[in-house]
Amino acid sequence: MAAGIIGTGSYLPSLTVSNQDLEKIMDTTDEWIKSRTGIERRHIAVEETTVSMAVEAARLALENAGVSPSELDLILVGTISPDHFFPSTACEVQKALAAENATAFDISAACSGFLFGLGIVNAYMAAGMIKTALVIGAETLSKLMDWNDRGTCVLFGDGAGAAVIRRQDEGILSMVQGSDGGRGEVLTCENRKVNNPYRKNPSDLSFTAMNGQEVYKFAVRTVPASVDEALMKAGVRADEIKYFILHQANIRIIEAVAKRLGQPIEKFPTNLQECGNISAGSVPILLDFVNRQGKLQKGDKIVLAGFGAGLTWGAAVLIW
Ligand code: UT7
Repeated sequence: MAAGIIGTGSYLPSLTVSNQDLEKIMDTTDEWIKSRTGIERRHIAVEETTVSMAVEAARLALENAGVSPSELDLILVGTISPDHFFPSTACEVQKALAAENATAFDISAACSGFLFGLGIVNAYMAAGMIKTALVIGAETLSKLMDWNDRGTCVLFGDGAGAAVIRRQDEGILSMVQGSDGGRGEVLTCENRKVNNPYRKNPSDLSFTAMNGQEVYKFAVRTVPASVDEALMKAGVRADEIKYFILHQANIRIIEAVAKRLGQPIEKFPTNLQECGNISAGSVPILLDFVNRQGKLQKGDKIVLAGFGAGLTWGAAVLIW
């Protein structure tokens, strides 16, 4: 038996902010953003929240799969931008869907959050613990940005993507996951500082900080290596893969990965032009775009891969 994706959904906030819009509020240019990253626009939450977007994506994924919320045994949400410390986003999604039979919890693995969620579902299904699961990646990254730091805020966007997974004959063939906490300082966002009657600190806000070049080097080394390993484990050749659905951070990273894997760029769909980097939301949103364009047929082999803060990375080979 395997863990197979049987439905997808996604939600993007209604406000679209173009590079030209950003030129009006900070010292940047459309030319710089597009040439360095490929990003042209991103969706920014105004009324939306991490939970509201996760719920919308989940409803669409359930509809796409023909599954009712009460059939869900497990709800996982990959997020680094929850609305609350607690309850978890996953529990709030459970409440909104009335998915009363599910166990629900969040995963903090940044841009690898959706891949780590798939890994957990895969293991639970292999152990015979669950039959049907919902994995969501949902982010409101705009609230974690310093909007005076042009080096980070132009890169990210908000949104959510979801997939329904069922224990069936075909699905995930292999998974590779990893972390390197020793290099975590290259991409950070501080939480509240220790602040209690015994240790008083000013509760200043902190935002996303990134050493872009270090993250870039990490990505172009780690993504091809993890995809290669996943392919080897699955016993599948790269040329048998129809689509490589990668985390959408930078078009140059995707081009470098395609080159290292020796695969044509046409096999690497992108939506970063429209969405920017949505961390855990990135892979499931792109998967939903590709699915809804009718580009996936039963039996197609695809690769999903993510990388990001932690540092963390994950790759999966699966049969659609
Ligand atoms: O999901 C997390 C994954 N994150 C990533 O994958 C990020 C990986 N890294 C990257 O994609 C690239 O490193 C960036 C796109 C973030 C940056 O590109 P870069 O080629 O590494 O640029 P840089 O940081 O070296 O900056 C080059 C110049 C600097 O000016 P000086 O010092 O050369 O005068 C920056 O101040 O570009 C300047 N700059 C900007 N200029 C206009 C930085 N941000 C901007 C901006 N607009 N938004």
